[in-house]
Amino acid sequence: MSFRIAPSILSADFARLGEEVRAVQAAGADLIHFDVMDNHYVPNLTVGPLVCEAIRPHVTIPIDVHLMVEPVDALIPMFAKAGANIITFHPEASRHVDRTLSLIREHGCKAGLVFNPATPLEYMDYVMGKLDIVLMMSVNPGFGGQSFIEAVLPKISAVKKKIDAHVSAGGQPIWLEVDGGVKVDNIRRVAEAGADTFVAGSAVFGARDADGGYKTVFEKFRRALA
Ligand code: DX5
Ligand code: ZN
Repeated sequence: MSFRIAPSILSADFARLGEEVRAVQAAGADLIHFDVMDNHYVPNLTVGPLVCEAIRPHVTIPIDVHLMVEPVDALIPMFAKAGANIITFHPEASRHVDRTLSLIREHGCKAGLVFNPATPLEYMDYVMGKLDIVLMMSVNPGFGGQSFIEAVLPKISAVKKKIDAHVSAGGQPIWLEVDGGVKVDNIRRVAEAGADTFVAGSAVFGARDADGGYKTVFEKFRRALA
């Protein structure tokens, strides 16, 4: 089983963002998780396509854009043009979920749905064929550094079951990513619940000044997953 670790730039030093994404890539990151917040869908405001375009030349790994915005569709062509490789959105923030997924794929990106801890999984049932990724939130979206919500573990397993059933029926592979409060001491349990891709914001960027820097965190994550 191969696992992917996706540092969230939310906890990076924004004044040195290019340097920061290069450093986490060198330390072993598999994706750059790019959190987009609009002060409408979530009570916080972050960055848009301009900043995605600015970091694109600094890394070769995929940029995983997590849209916490409402409405969704107008931003998709802009992020595709800015160099996004994966675009995920919250289904309740789009009026036409199937259409939004198609729009992302038509723009050459991998497409995914994001579920908050309380969002019903039924949203994925009739669009399985258009999903490349499912992102399960293990905190309420809006801020980095929150605690992992334990009640989400069985929900991760429920998503994994749906994905496995889809794949055994001949469907395409779908990544299962988990976002929020993922740390060295709980990543193994998250993997055991069925996740293969892990977002880590404060756990990675919090190690900025630690001995060994970012490299040590990735080593600890990989050891916990081995
Ligand atoms: C929260 C964001 C997360 C967040 C994760 O709304 O979607 O990606 O940055 O940060 P940590 O790992 O600190 O919980
Ligand atoms: Zn995120």
